[in-house]
Order: sequence, then structure tokens, then C-alpha cells
Amino acid sequence: MKRTEPPLVPEEALQAQRDAMREISAWPNRPQTYWIVTYGCQMNAHDSETLSGMLSEMGLRQAASRDGADLILFNTCCIRDNAERKALGNMTWLRQLKARRPELVLCVCGCMVQQPKMSQVLLRQYPFFDVAFGTHNLYRFPSLLLRALQTRRQVIEAGESDGCIAEGLPVRRESPFRAYVTIMYGCDNFCSYCIVPYVRGRERSRHPDAILREAEALVADGVQEIMLLGQNVNSYGNDLSGAPSFARLLRSLDSLGVPRIRFMTSHPKDISDELIDAMASSAHVAAHLHLPVQSGSDAVLRAMNRGYTRETYLRRAAALRAAMPDIALTTDLIVGFPGETEEDFADTLSLVEQMRYDSAYTFIFSPREGTRASRMSGQVPAPVATERIERLIAAQERISAQIYAGLVGTRQCVLAEERSRRREGQIAGKCSRGLTCNFDGDAAMIGRFVPVRITEAGHNTLRAVPLAKEEA
Ligand code: SAH
Ligand code: SF4
Ligand code: F3S
Repeated sequence: MKRTEPPLVPEEALQAQRDAMREISAWPNRPQTYWIVTYGCQMNAHDSETLSGMLSEMGLRQAASRDGADLILFNTCCIRDNAERKALGNMTWLRQLKARRPELVLCVCGCMVQQPKMSQVLLRQYPFFDVAFGTHNLYRFPSLLLRALQTRRQVIEAGESDGCIAEGLPVRRESPFRAYVTIMYGCDNFCSYCIVPYVRGRERSRHPDAILREAEALVADGVQEIMLLGQNVNSYGNDLSGAPSFARLLRSLDSLGVPRIRFMTSHPKDISDELIDAMASSAHVAAHLHLPVQSGSDAVLRAMNRGYTRETYLRRAAALRAAMPDIALTTDLIVGFPGETEEDFADTLSLVEQMRYDSAYTFIFSPREGTRASRMSGQVPAPVATERIERLIAAQERISAQIYAGLVGTRQCVLAEERSRRREGQIAGKCSRGLTCNFDGDAAMIGRFVPVRITEAGHNTLRAVPLAKEEA
């Protein structure tokens, strides 16, 4: 059943958070500086921007270094075992730091904390955390922190409870000219390997007016690029009666005049003709689509519960390329899914050859507790999976190198983002297809679109020269 309105956090609950932020800012001996360590995807990166916004409202400043901060917050990810291990490894460092500086306030949040039983583990094994909260409780961070300061006891909240949308939270963006805009939360797809539906809850679309108002304000603020976020942006509005389709939402945003629009992630089963049309006829949508395929084998795709076949995926990709010949496609791939045979893997390799992606994120299947795939028979031994991923990476690297070499001599429009970390006097930014380009330039270019010509293809980046006005 569709809802008529998004499930919003009630105004009184938000007011309680504003009150808590005010109280903390006046709290004697409160922490003065903070440091956030973010793991995982763009949703987490954006959640950290919100947490940063809240901490700023509480009067804290970002610390100059993590070791000097008075409050440290870990925003965790649990998509694969190695994501979890990275965070857990760093917690040892937090334990040592807290032993040296007992007044340090330590907080942990994000997808790891939202897992069932995790709060018990935290209580037992990580008693040095002052505050722990799950993804559904993010907006309640101020009142949880206040309680920890008042009681000087560990405060944990990771209930499934509401999964409501909190509008109007403060946000401190990482970049003055690029911004994330969440259009929906959660995921209903239940791909058999994936933990996200369990830790981010059911699909909830934001009200279109809230999205458009936020985008308008960002444009007025001088933002040059907006990245629309959702685990499956193509199903935007499916839960909300009267909401526009994602394609219509994209058209509305395009006509607002956002200079460049990106979005992720798209699920291949939901790429409609309407969306392809909206992208092709837009003035501002980037020439890039991240379209995770996961596997090239029909048997594996079925076991993954992906809802498309190799054939239907290839047809959607062909339709995208027919409408937008220059579009860059990128993907995610999993090797070693339970039951994956050498033939199944060969199908993935051949799909990669056929698709010619600009690039691909490749992962070895990691069993996640509670998911169907973790209980499937035919788990692939680690050495087999490692050997397969190496072959896959080699194939993709060869294709990427060919595509990058083919871009030499072309004209691209780059949003200049920062001074190059490697070379003096160089600026780095991304072209419309999402590739990093480096070129000679000065800091005055940062935050602006610079027309360039590609001169050389590197391993993961392109070298370019800015075009003179008459050439541009
Ligand atoms: N919502 C997005 C991406 C979610 S997670 C989508 O549907 O595509 C990002 C990527 O992590 C996935 O595309 C998948 O390739 C990978 N991934 C997710 N769970 C995994 C697991 N258990 N083991 C290995 N890779 C996984
Ligand atoms: Fe996970 Fe699948 Fe949802 Fe992506 S679409 S978040 S892979 S369940
Ligand atoms: Fe990780 Fe949670 Fe994102 S599990 S990939 S941070 S949604």
C-alpha cells in the first residue's frame, strides 16, 4: 500500500533535538572539537555531513587532527567483512586513546551498530564508547550525547523503531560547490547477499517538494554539482502516492538549473524508457551511469535475486547507449557468490568484455549474517575467488586503459575540485563521465567548470590542458 505522505519524524521530536543542541553548546566542560571517521558509501558520507552539522550547532569545531579531537565519532559500514574489520581494527586505537585521555568522548554509529545484537556486543566488548546509535536514530544524536554528558554512562540506541525521515537537520557540507541530496532512504530489493535492507530499513521516499526546495537552496548557494542519493534511485516514489517517477523528478531538477546532476545507485531492473529519455533530453545530467550488474551468469543473477537476466541487462545498456552514444557506464561485480562455477565466472568475464565499462568495483562475496546467501550451499573457497577476481581486474584494467586512451584529443568539461595532491601547480577535477582529470591551473579555478582537452591517459586519471576561450 502506498502512503500519501512520507513518514516524517514529528516536529516535537525534532524540537527536542534542537533543545539538546542548545543545552550542549552551553554545557560546562563540553568537548570543543570533533573528528568524524566515515566508512562505507555516499549515504554514510552524507550522514557524516549531517552529524557534522549537528556538532557545529552544539558549538564544536572540526579538530585539526584526529588525535587532538575532544570527541571522536566513527560512522561505520558493514557491507562486507573487510569494511567491518577496518572499523574494529581502529577501535583498538580508540581504546588506547581513551586510556590516555579519559575525558575524550567516543561515539559510534552507522550500519554496523544497526545490526541485530550489535548493541550487546558494544556494551560488552567496547565499553569505552560513550554513545552508540543506529542509522534509524541518527537524528537523535544530540539528545543521546546530552544524556551521556549528564549521566557519564554509556548510552546506546539502535532500535528498529521508526525508520522515519527527519527533515530540516543541519548539514555541514564537505565541499562548497558539490552537494549530496538524499531522495530516498532504505531498500526493498533484498538481493540475497546484501545487508543494506536490514540496516537501512524499508524504502522511504522524501517528499518531492522537500527535494526541490533543498536543490533550489543549493543552487542559490552556488553549488555546481548535485549527487542524488538512494540505494535504488530508480524506484523513487514507488512508496508514495502522487509522487513523480524518478524520471519526472530528474526533469524537474534539470529545469531548476543545477549545473551538473549525478545520481546513484541505479538498479538495472528499474531503468525505464522514461528515465533514458529524461537523461538524454536533459541539459545538466552527467554523461555517466553507474549500473551495477554483479554477475554475467543468469544462474547467479537468479540466486542473487537481482530481478534481471544477462539479456535484459544488455538490452537496457544498449538502449542507454543508443540514446546517449557518449555515456560512460560503470558497474559493481561480485565474484565467488555461492555456487558460482568456472562457467558462471566465464559469463561474467565475457559480459565485461561486451559491456566495455569505463571502470568497475570488484568484490569477493562476503557472507553477511542474516542474509540468504550466507546460508547457501556451494560457498566458493577463498583461493578460487581470489584467482577469479584477479583475472576480472586484469580484464577490466585492460578495457579501462583502452577507453581512456580513446579519450585523448577529446574536449571535456571538468569541474575543478582541488589542488592536485601529487603535482605542484596542478588542479584535479572530474569530467562529465566521472573521470579524474589533472591540468595546469590555479586555485581560482576551483569550484568552476573548466573546458579542457585530454592530452594523455594515465592509470586511473587523465591529463589535460585547459582550452583557451576561443577554443572552448
Ligand atoms: N544499492 C546499490 C549498492 C549497494 S552496496 C546497488 O544495488 O547496486 C555496493 C556494492 O557492494 C554492491 O553493488 C555489491 O557489488 C557489493 N556488495 C554488497 N553486498 C556484498 C557482499 N555481501 N559481498 C560482496 N560484495 C557485496
Ligand atoms: Fe543491496 Fe540489492 Fe538493495 Fe543494492 S538493491 S542495496 S545490492 S539489496
Ligand atoms: Fe555500508 Fe551502510 Fe553504505 S552497510 S555501503 S554504509 S548503506
